[in-house]
Amino acid sequence: MRVLTGIQPSGDLHIGNYFGSIKAMIDSQNDQDVFAFIANYHAMTSLSDGERLSTLTMQAATDFLALGMDPQKSTFWVQSDVKEVLELYWVLSSFTPMGLLERAHSYKDKVAKGIASNHSLFSYPVLMAADILLFGSQVVPVGKDQIQHVEIARDIALKFNNQYGDIFTLPEFRVDE
Ligand code: TRP
Repeated sequence: MRVLTGIQPSGDLHIGNYFGSIKAMIDSQNDQDVFAFIANYHAMTSLSDGERLSTLTMQAATDFLALGMDPQKSTFWVQSDVKEVLELYWVLSSFTPMGLLERAHSYKDKVAKGIASNHSLFSYPVLMAADILLFGSQVVPVGKDQIQHVEIARDIALKFNNQYGDIFTLPEFRVDE
């Protein structure tokens, strides 16, 4: 079973990240095909200081390794090291109706909180769909706030597959309480 997780390096990792997602991911390395990455492109939607982002990305990567992420067992990378994800992001954009993104709770919540709205914030779910679909992910463990993003990825994959055949695996979310 291919399980994919992305973690944004938008601040220092804390105990909530550990118990919320990292621990389960590390524990599952022996019986699942774990794909895990540091979502530094996504972090750009909330962090514009490049130097700080670069430091936080490296720090998140070393924290993961220190906590037990094992590159011999799992596939572990930094999002921006696989540029094809941006290529797929653009291809998927053409299969993403505006309405699908306009209904995204996470975008609406961020705008309501006063975060400046820009295109990357709006198209965030399309990049997340590219992360998920590029690697044939079957299961995506998420917090409740990210369920809709996995559903959006699934909707985009369905739309693409309707036209081109059975190309993308349809992902399912799993909520780890
Ligand atoms: N949006 C996720 C979060 O904030 C991070 C993320 C980016 C992600 N791409 C992903 C999670 C793909 C799972 C799959 O937590």
